[in-house]
Amino acid sequence: MYNQIRSAMIDVVSLSENTQLLRIYSCCLLLIFGCWWFRSLFVQLDPREPPALNPKIPIVGHVWGLMRHAHGYINSLYRQSGLSIYTLPLLHRKVYVINSPTLVQAAFANRRLSFMPFVVDFVKRMDELSPAAREIYGEIHPQVMQSISTHMTGKQLKRMNSVQLKEFLPYLPENGVVLEIENLWFWLRDILTVGTTSMLFGATDNPWKKHPSLVNAYWNYEAGDPSRRFNLTAVGNRRTNIHHATMHDALVEYFATCYDSSIAAQDSDVAEMIRDAVALQRRSGFDVGDVAASQLAIIHGSIVSTVPTAFWTIAYAFSQPELLAKLRENALAAVTFKDIDDTGMRQAIVLNDQIDVLCPLLVATLHETQRLVSIGLLHRRVLEDTQVSEGIGEAKRTYLLKRGTAIFLASGPSHRSDQIWGEAPDEFRLDRLQDNAVIQAYENGQEKAKSAARSRNKAYFPFGGGKELCPGRNFAASEALSTLLVMVLGFDMSAPDGTPLKLPAFSPPKMTASVARPHKDADLRVNIKRRHSKQVGYLR
Ligand code: HEM
Repeated sequence: MYNQIRSAMIDVVSLSENTQLLRIYSCCLLLIFGCWWFRSLFVQLDPREPPALNPKIPIVGHVWGLMRHAHGYINSLYRQSGLSIYTLPLLHRKVYVINSPTLVQAAFANRRLSFMPFVVDFVKRMDELSPAAREIYGEIHPQVMQSISTHMTGKQLKRMNSVQLKEFLPYLPENGVVLEIENLWFWLRDILTVGTTSMLFGATDNPWKKHPSLVNAYWNYEAGDPSRRFNLTAVGNRRTNIHHATMHDALVEYFATCYDSSIAAQDSDVAEMIRDAVALQRRSGFDVGDVAASQLAIIHGSIVSTVPTAFWTIAYAFSQPELLAKLRENALAAVTFKDIDDTGMRQAIVLNDQIDVLCPLLVATLHETQRLVSIGLLHRRVLEDTQVSEGIGEAKRTYLLKRGTAIFLASGPSHRSDQIWGEAPDEFRLDRLQDNAVIQAYENGQEKAKSAARSRNKAYFPFGGGKELCPGRNFAASEALSTLLVMVLGFDMSAPDGTPLKLPAFSPPKMTASVARPHKDADLRVNIKRRHSKQVGYLR
């Protein structure tokens, strides 16, 4: 009996000792894990990597800054630090941020720095894709991009632009009518969305034209997180996904009829780039849902920056009366007129494929606009350890970029640099890109002017650069230029009290939008009426 009690007591003691030990072990493990986790928050850098820029609020400062101010945060870090390149520690990760135009150009030229990994990641988030399409998407992506680029020139570009213009014109007021618009941004945005989708899918069967609610669906989707990366709230995600699904369904219906390929190329109003890309995808095993999902990504690429760029070009033109007068004169170079019998009106025929050659002031207006409104981030990932350098001789600096790290290429510091663009770089000045003194001196071979022109070239990249240069840049430019030409030549536009349009402030930056949007509180009420002048008469 005594022995039994003794052994039971020993059991209890050893059990409590074991529990004690277990507790101590668990605490040690937790402590080790905590130390490891805490240490991993401080990114370890090779001394050859770009220097770390630590946040003011330890550990979480940068994440918080990016969540609140998106690329505005990166621009403000540049204003504070002046660093041409640095490492941004982001909790357990790091991102290299490149500000200097020389290093941005070096990044564009370096094939080890690529956008492709982001495409691969995006494809993983495209839930609508079949396994077969998911497999081959990345492989055929370069060919799809190539097909977009090659069809963006000459006759095909003119044809696409004509489709877009024809969609735009019916929304403009007839002679003698004053069109009162509540918000110029929404008005133009919605019309250009139909125009752009018609130029892609043909005006006859364009789902966005047949079902105008899709226009809202697109902009609601765009207001969320189209990249499906940053939207952390379930509600936000759900909303973005619902609008995406609505557009996807409409495109499934469109592609199910094979409208894009059922008519011979010369008779079809579907853009050749869509016909080609979709034919390639079908040959590669994409089903109709896959085609619709991938074309939705193209639509997004076509609209998201083109439409705000066209808006801002018009806003800058109509908010500056002196500029507007010059543009009106210059626009005449790309138009021929025909009298319309007995009506006192004249028909203007726009030479829409020659605006870029015949209208240097319109082109300069677009360029200066893009310099000011393209202020976002471009993205690359390091495929293999690589180096980038800037400076020469003693001032040369070389930085090691480590495999797997993401890179932000910031447009703001280049596009808004006073050293490069001269005084008041935040203001619109037509003569910046078109600076006669610089051009003339350049032609006379003056070294200083040559280097000024070179640095402006380097520091201007609204369409990105290198292998990933935007394949749609020619279409975007022709849409903005032709819309601007029609508006300045044919129409007067002013605030309801008759004063010139007030240039709206920018809305707070958003990570997925690299071109600025007008502020939601901006007063964008305008009246538009058909113009009458000695030179152009009444236009039709
Ligand atoms: C003003 C309008 C536009 C702007 C400012 C713009 C800007 C850009 C930029 C900055 C990039 C990334 C380039 C880089 O990372 O180096 C890009 C890529 C792209 N853009 Fe545009 N874009 C515009 C219009 C268009 C249009 C009209 C289309 C299609 C018709 C288009 C299709 C694309 C596509 C598909 C890509 C991805 C390229 C790739 O994955 O390699 N863009 N664009």
